[in-house]
Amino acid sequence: MEIVNVDLKDYSYPIYISNGILKDTGLYLKKHLRSNRVLIITDSNVSELYLIRLENSLLNNGFMVHHSIIKAGEESKNLDTVKHLLEECFKFGLLRDSAIVALGGGVVGDIAGLVSALFMRGIDFIQVPTTLLAQVDSSVGGKVGVNLKEGKNMAGAFYQPKAVFVDTDVLKSLDKREIRGGISEIIKYGIIKDASLFNFIESNIKEILDLDDEKVRHLIKRSCEIKSDVVSKDEKESSIRAVLNYGHTIGHAIESLTKYKKYIHGEAVAIGMYYAAKIALNRKYIDIDYLSRIRSLLVASELPVDYENLDKYEILEGIKHDKKNREGKIKFVLPVGHGDADIFDVSEEEILRVLK
Ligand SMILES: NC(=O)c1ccc[n+]([C@@H]2O[C@H](COP(=O)([O-])OP(=O)(O)OC[C@H]3O[C@@H](n4cnc5c(N)ncnc54)[C@H](O)[C@@H]3O)[C@@H](O)[C@H]2O)c1
Ligand SMILES: [Zn+2]
Repeated sequence: MEIVNVDLKDYSYPIYISNGILKDTGLYLKKHLRSNRVLIITDSNVSELYLIRLENSLLNNGFMVHHSIIKAGEESKNLDTVKHLLEECFKFGLLRDSAIVALGGGVVGDIAGLVSALFMRGIDFIQVPTTLLAQVDSSVGGKVGVNLKEGKNMAGAFYQPKAVFVDTDVLKSLDKREIRGGISEIIKYGIIKDASLFNFIESNIKEILDLDDEKVRHLIKRSCEIKSDVVSKDEKESSIRAVLNYGHTIGHAIESLTKYKKYIHGEAVAIGMYYAAKIALNRKYIDIDYLSRIRSLLVASELPVDYENLDKYEILEGIKHDKKNREGKIKFVLPVGHGDADIFDVSEEEILRVLK
């Protein structure tokens, strides 16, 4: 088993990574939780596959276990679901020292985290992420929240879990497209922070796509280390944490212009990473060989590098609406050499020059 420690002083927590850890979660949780009353929040897909395994592990270790199942999908990520779940917490008699365990992808983790932060001003929260994206990204870093009709993730909080349990076995049932979406975020970590991670994915992409356990575990561990390192330096995203948004400026614009239907998140980010790298090339921060390596790796990962049927002025408007742009400036994370990136102000002309 691999353990990555997220170092946040009083709020530090471990990420346990291993194949099969789901069945041992109850054992480990004994040392992380204050009481034995637990509510598992999961979704309608994941509950069919893994709820019994997790419940048994908790029951065998003396926990009193309840569960709430929400409908799978981003549509559930709203305040109505939060209200319903808070009522469930009361119904099951949860107290201030009880805990909520999120079993599922980023949607379940984001909602359950917010419910944990709100119920009685905050109860213990445990993440059991079951998608690759959740294992390498959303379960680490403490951002929790739901969508409003005004925008994605517009009602939320920073709320750290007490522990994260990553079971690589559960990835076997995940849709291949979702796997590739997670790989997109892992490539992002390689580009912004770790050239050897980038090289590793390049050399092993076939085995990774086939979910070779040892290689996937290595990727998850490195990704969690990189994200937790960035988060521990800047928990509330005042500065350096923003480097994690590489590929997301154009990516978010493309997702929203296509109404979150045509591309999954990691696909839009892949396109965004390629275009941001083109801006970096024009500024001579990277050379053409590196740009083509980025492109080839995304293509080998069966991710898109280009958008279709979108106008460049539409994309520019979409970028300008992004909540991360302050004071009218367009902030972009750009690679500056291998395994390094920084945040820059980019002009509209520069963006239009690389877009089709
Ligand atoms: N908090 C953060 O820092 C952060 C970071 C990135 C993304 N997010 C959020 O994460 C969400 C996306 O997360 P996601 O991609 O995990 O989506 P998701 O939670 O919707 O999961 C994708 C699909 O896979 C199913 N599923 C989950 N695990 C499975 C498994 N092991 N086997 C089979 N099916 C499984 C789910 O039921 C769902 O249908 C978005 O709402 C996004 O805003 C949050
Ligand atoms: Zn992302």
